[in-house]
Amino acid sequence: MFICGHISFFPVPVNAQSYKLAVFGQPVAHSLSPRIHRLFGEQLGIDVDYSAIEADIDELAEKLAAFRADGGTGANLTVPLKQAGLRLCTRVDRPARQAHAVNTLHLEDDGWHGYNTDGAGLLLDLDRLGIDPAGRRILIVGAGGAVAGILGPLLDRQPACVTVVNRTAERAERLADKFAHLGDIRGGEIDSASEGSPHDLLIQSTSAGHEGKAVPIERACLTDDASGYDLNYGTAHAPFAEWCRQHGMMTHDGLGMLVGQAALAFNIWTGKRPDIAPTLAALSRD
Ligand SMILES: NC(=O)c1ccc[n+]([C@@H]2O[C@H](COP(=O)([O-])OP(=O)(O)OC[C@H]3O[C@@H](n4cnc5c(N)ncnc54)[C@H](OP(=O)(O)O)[C@@H]3O)[C@@H](O)[C@H]2O)c1
Repeated sequence: MFICGHISFFPVPVNAQSYKLAVFGQPVAHSLSPRIHRLFGEQLGIDVDYSAIEADIDELAEKLAAFRADGGTGANLTVPLKQAGLRLCTRVDRPARQAHAVNTLHLEDDGWHGYNTDGAGLLLDLDRLGIDPAGRRILIVGAGGAVAGILGPLLDRQPACVTVVNRTAERAERLADKFAHLGDIRGGEIDSASEGSPHDLLIQSTSAGHEGKAVPIERACLTDDASGYDLNYGTAHAPFAEWCRQHGMMTHDGLGMLVGQAALAFNIWTGKRPDIAPTLAALSRD
């Protein structure tokens, strides 16, 4: 505090602005996002009011408008709203256009701008783990919305090749066709993973873990020293972790990707990029 005569001047805090943020989805009550963004706010001394708002696809436009009227300037969208959110944006970034899905909205003068930070969040986590996708032969199991989000940023890192396999083979083939202009990519049924040379990175991207299942993959389609990365975390990661243990493979869960995509969203909203390591450590202690 500076004193001048009888008048007191209080220094203005560097980040006096408060951010009203939320994650929309269904179900969303157990989302880790409010905790993650509060931790980011504490780390950077930024005042964050981040809530979780239940909304189905039909309610999204109305609930987002109410949030905006109440001062909301940034939002995350999760299942099942990522595609529906795209239609409410005045502009979208390249990964969102490629994935046809947004996970982050930021209010600008002309309306909501949409982003997809899932793929860049995965890459942040792979970098943290010292796994460089460049030159690797990558096997992706699953062909849902998350894979659509990660393929563009992953192919930008120039892996040797990417094989996408899925229970419903047509979805994997469609994704491979869509991203073929970005690199060497093929899609097919799960059994087709063993065609060609073995892969050295397995990215488990199905939601089977939520049903307590691991998708069966032939060990022979992976090199001896291949590692596994699961987009899932918590109990949904357990079946894949067990599969990797049985097959002598090192594995990582997707909590770091979740924190990574959140850090990139936080940067879009506030202009400040949090460090993911302390947040990840705090969540892992929970
Ligand atoms: N860590 C993160 O930040 C992050 C971000 C996004 C997503 N995720 C997680 O990643 C997973 C996938 O998300 P998503 O958005 O892509 O979901 P999605 O669009 O619903 O796709 C689900 C995928 O899982 C496959 N699948 C589901 N049950 C299966 C089973 N029993 N056997 C074989 N395949 C099965 C589906 O195959 P079909 O096409 O044959 O139905 C499809 O490929 C979810 O568990 C989600 O929680 C994590």
